[in-house]
Amino acid sequence: MNARTLLPLMALLGLGFSGATTNAQPAPPPDPINGVLGYSDGQQLYENICQGCHMPGGKGAVGAGAYPAFVDNPRLASADYMAATILNGRSNMPSFSEPAIWTAWYPPTWLTDTQVANVVNYIRSHFGNHYSDAITPEQVKALRPAEPAEATN
Ligand code: HEC
Repeated sequence: MNARTLLPLMALLGLGFSGATTNAQPAPPPDPINGVLGYSDGQQLYENICQGCHMPGGKGAVGAGAYPAFVDNPRLASADYMAATILNGRSNMPSFSEPAIWTAWYPPTWLTDTQVANVVNYIRSHFGNHYSDAITPEQVKALRPAEPAEATN
């Protein structure tokens, strides 16, 4: 069997020359909408990711650090500000963009444009908030930092 027939066969079987043992990179998100978590419901995202710091009901917390509340928070007037905070992080707030540089220990949790939009829209329509100008996944995409340049060496 020559390489022309061998390669497609290996692809079909899910085999590769760079085996799992030598490649520390986790697989890319399985789904462009639901990302690595597998769901994009705003409430589910809030409860599973954000609530640990921002607390149930968006009450926020002050203790070992200050976690802003999402109740009576005038900064929520800007959906762009919220989405940019989620994408880029902000002081002790982690970034939920796909990491530019992979390391074996980096927690592989990052959010798609749809997930960011849905969690922002959830927060802005719950916890006593009544903003009706929903942000779209396209608007989130426009806020993402530019792709880092490909390494050439
Ligand atoms: C590990 C803890 C942690 C997690 C998890 C977390 N945040 Fe935060 N978040 C913070 C901290 C701390 C700040 C305050 C940052 C600063 O000093 O300005 C913050 C700030 C924010 C702000 C800006 C609020 C303001 O008043 O300026 C928004 C919006 C926000 N977070 C949304 C989210 C969303 C949505 C999620 C879930 C996807 C999330 N955060 C998950 C810790 C966290």
